[in-house]
Amino acid sequence: MTGLDESHDHGYGFPGDTDVGLPNPARVYDYWLGGSANFAVDRELGDHIAESEPRIASMARENRSLLRRMVAHCCRQGVDQFLDLGSGVPTIGNVHEIAHRHDPDSRVVYVDNEPVAVSHSELLLEGVDKVTILRGDLNDPAEVLNSPVTRGMLDLNRPVAVLLLCVLQYFPDTDRLRDTVARYRAGLAPGSYIAISHLTTDDGAVNTSGVAERIQHSRANHQAYPRGYEDVLSLFEGTRLVEPGIRYAQDWHHGEIAGPTEPSGIYAGLARVPE
Ligand SMILES: C[S@@+](CC[C@H](N)C(=O)[O-])C[C@H]1O[C@@H](n2cnc3c(N)ncnc32)[C@H](O)[C@@H]1O
Repeated sequence: MTGLDESHDHGYGFPGDTDVGLPNPARVYDYWLGGSANFAVDRELGDHIAESEPRIASMARENRSLLRRMVAHCCRQGVDQFLDLGSGVPTIGNVHEIAHRHDPDSRVVYVDNEPVAVSHSELLLEGVDKVTILRGDLNDPAEVLNSPVTRGMLDLNRPVAVLLLCVLQYFPDTDRLRDTVARYRAGLAPGSYIAISHLTTDDGAVNTSGVAERIQHSRANHQAYPRGYEDVLSLFEGTRLVEPGIRYAQDWHHGEIAGPTEPSGIYAGLARVPE
């Protein structure tokens, strides 16, 4: 596996404000998934975390598998619009690839605030219809929902699936998060969906506390705040959880997974915005 070398942009054209001196969650996660959109600092932190939990890469893969099942589920319910918040560096099985398999007319807006994730997404999406990327901060729902990029692609008067997968764990204040999710929900039509996956220490099978501690003591520009069941449940206020409710990622609709699963240390839930 090779990664980016911070002395050249390798034609990726990453913007000048990319901080290549500090590890970033998008690029560390990309490293665990076997991608190449990461720098030496990201790989160092990725390896350091893996020393505390050697299954970290399979945890990341379980989350991507969950993403595919959640998107497919929404497609089967007739949803053809997706807003993927904290979408990350493109990898195998991106939202638009799954959605277009179900309905080539599906529309997808990716949102991320990390320059490398955004520039890789722009490259991947060149010439792909009905999909776009917005560089933005998911903590500002009004800005994201009212952006011309979002409005130009999605019709918010019709159902949209909003994905918040493995991203809310980077924010410390649960009350503020609940408010952020509520503001997205308020901007969505009935029949929309909200998907959340979230790191937790409840799953004793993996050392999520060790992962969070290693991030905390690193130079990373982010911290991880694993949450318990009740806090994750509270993020779904005002929506109706789809069966089977909140489960560990590997157990959510696990019947659809081919082959064995691994413990993930990640809670997962999908909920519908009621009439
Ligand atoms: C661990 S990755 C998850 C990627 C993808 N959602 C998935 O589940 O495979 C978290 C992503 O959230 C992005 N992110 C973190 N804070 C953000 C913010 N305030 N606004 C937008 N994106 C953010 C990071 O840049 C990173 O790409």
